[in-house]
Amino acid sequence: MSEQAPKCPFHQTTTAGAPVVDNQNSLTAGPRGPVLLQDYQLIEKLAHQNRERIPERVVHAKGWGAHGTFTVTHDITRYTRAALFARVGKQTPLITRFSTVAGELGAADAERDVRGFSVKFYTEEGNWDLVGNNTPVFFIRDPYKFPDFIHTQKRHPKTHLRSPTAMWDYWSLSPEALHQVTILMSDRGIPVSPMHMNGYGSHTYSFINAVNERFWVKFHFKPHKGKVNLTNEEAAKLIGKTRESYQEALFGAIEAGDFPRWDLFVQVMPELEAETTLYNPFDLTKVWPHGDYPLIPVGVMELNRNPDNYFNEVEQAAYSPSNIVPGIGFSPDKVLQARIFSYADAHRYRLGTHYEALPVNAPKCPVNTYHADGQMRFFAQFGGNPDAYYEPNSFGGPKEAPEYREPPLKISGDADRYNHRDGNDDYSQPRALFNLFSDGEKQRTCASIAGSMKGVPQFIIERALTHFDRIDPAYGAGIRKALAHGGDAEVQATRSLD
Ligand code: NDP
Ligand code: HEM
Repeated sequence: MSEQAPKCPFHQTTTAGAPVVDNQNSLTAGPRGPVLLQDYQLIEKLAHQNRERIPERVVHAKGWGAHGTFTVTHDITRYTRAALFARVGKQTPLITRFSTVAGELGAADAERDVRGFSVKFYTEEGNWDLVGNNTPVFFIRDPYKFPDFIHTQKRHPKTHLRSPTAMWDYWSLSPEALHQVTILMSDRGIPVSPMHMNGYGSHTYSFINAVNERFWVKFHFKPHKGKVNLTNEEAAKLIGKTRESYQEALFGAIEAGDFPRWDLFVQVMPELEAETTLYNPFDLTKVWPHGDYPLIPVGVMELNRNPDNYFNEVEQAAYSPSNIVPGIGFSPDKVLQARIFSYADAHRYRLGTHYEALPVNAPKCPVNTYHADGQMRFFAQFGGNPDAYYEPNSFGGPKEAPEYREPPLKISGDADRYNHRDGNDDYSQPRALFNLFSDGEKQRTCASIAGSMKGVPQFIIERALTHFDRIDPAYGAGIRKALAHGGDAEVQATRSLD
């Protein structure tokens, strides 16, 4: 006999399911009060409200997200056995979250900042999270510096204001940051919406194919809507009108059926070539030149469904570079190594032990682990076998899968704290970038840098300028000229130089 849930009239209930008789008037001793302690429904309502917020992300707090689909358009099975790339035409559901880095949850969307670009692919072999940015490089190459760098982007402990002095003090002492600083201060520093920007995995990851060969790989997304950016003045005007321009644009486009799409490309390097490139291919402050490693097309990502509930599906989404699937692996990139630890740790703090069981994070394939219990254990036994809560066992519990073992990775070297700045060329790639800017973009970049230096002590500005001179004397000179003109006043005029 099938069990039917009892029919329930659509009335308001307590969280224990009992009817709420009155949701307007507290339970009081007489019409003038006081309120009675036994008004549990009032107490529950207030107590619940006190728990409506969770900690915002320590970085990338402000974000916008949507559901979608990835469709394979080109065969890359010679590089990877990942199931999501198994055949042309294959579709995989996904969710994305775009974000700014430094601003808090209520920050204005159109601020100059790097944008996060996170994608969670729900593959049949587990979730693959590509947690990247709209830039191919990053400010640091050693993860030891991440908290220091982020402290320069967040509020000053005394003034509680953002501190240009802290930013330029740190950057002028950290030349490896200048590549990313050049991108941040360029036209691409303020995309008009998440739909108008590139996405990059940024790190080098690995691909492993069906015969267990390893390749190094970088991921690139290119928007069908093209790259469209705001100048500082346009952004300031827009923020004056709305602080939520990205949410309005992304949510609005999807509601209107104008689904944003990106093409996904990869750059692929055979494993042993990493020993011969002139630059360290695992250095997060460097790109692989397209001339050496051309973009190989893979597929299309389309966003076609808005979340029904922002908190459930965007705020509670937990992306982590540790989430990889068979056929996709890590690399020796030191920053990636640190991120493999940091994100799952952040999620346990922000969302709780069982964050991966929340609907938005739950894989769409079976989950069979031997983890036990913990706070908010609200779901059934993993693996479905109540007698097998340890391994090895004799009760048919899930077993390891050696067929997915990666090929061994050769590692050598003495354990030490190596100076990551020794012998590293931090100038050639920013120079290549500066020199592909139009004259207009060069001027606007210099003006944005000068504008961001307002109030910074002169000795720090001078130290920063020596680095820009080393990138290109024209770069240093352009910033000096903009500083002499009082920052970014000239920005609009330079549109005519594009
Ligand atoms: P290419 O001429 O082949 O590529 C230049 C790249 O620069 C393109 O990917 C272009 O992106 C991108 N670009 C253009 N304007 C900006 C900007 N304001 N901010 C960020 N990226 C921009 O040259 P190389 O591959 O030899 O690289 C030369 C320089 O280009 C590098 O030193 C690096 O700074 C930059 N770059 C390189 C990338 C790479 O993966 N090789 C990726 C992104 C930047 P798009 O094609 O979308 O217009
Ligand atoms: C968010 C740590 C570098 C992209 C976060 C969060 C932490 C973190 C703790 C918040 C996670 C959460 O609460 O959900 C670090 C550390 C880094 C590092 C320790 C280096 C040592 C990077 C790099 C990139 C990046 C290099 C991009 C290439 C992102 C993105 C998010 C994020 C996109 C937001 C994810 C989301 O949408 O929820 N980072 N990060 N981070 N980080 Fe990093």
